[in-house]
Amino acid sequence: MTERTLSIIKPDATRRNLTGKINAVIEEAGLRIVGQRRIRMSRAQAEAFYGIHKEKPFFGELVEFMTSGPVVVQVLEGEGAVSRYREVMGATNPANAAPGTIRQLYAESFTGNSVHGSDSPENARDEISQFFTEADIVG
Ligand code: CMP
Repeated sequence: MTERTLSIIKPDATRRNLTGKINAVIEEAGLRIVGQRRIRMSRAQAEAFYGIHKEKPFFGELVEFMTSGPVVVQVLEGEGAVSRYREVMGATNPANAAPGTIRQLYAESFTGNSVHGSDSPENARDEISQFFTEADIVG
């Protein structure tokens, strides 16, 4: 089924000019970038986006990091896009990421793991709506 997922290229990756290289991996995996914007996340946006992790010990570091530089928010579309993109990203902890995945290729650390992708179709809809209106998405 054609699906959409939210991707974020994180500050560790934008700082190293890796947006194009990461987009190439995404496109080669058969996912289409149907919405894309480079933004500076506000603290409120980052706290809301990662609200599910509010009680976690790494929450403060995560919010600091996500607001430390530009990010590129993207809507990816394709067959089973949510799970497909999770395969393409590799494991959250880059130490466990499979060869050829974005995180194995580019991530610096658990926090600086270069990309985010939604973990379910329901969360994808919610996460996309935090950054995009339908008019911003051109399939
Ligand atoms: P992401 O997929 O964006 O979702 C939450 C983020 O929190 C995750 O990627 C990691 O970058 C970060 N994260 C998750 N677990 C840890 C952890 N144990 N230590 C530090 N950062 C973490």
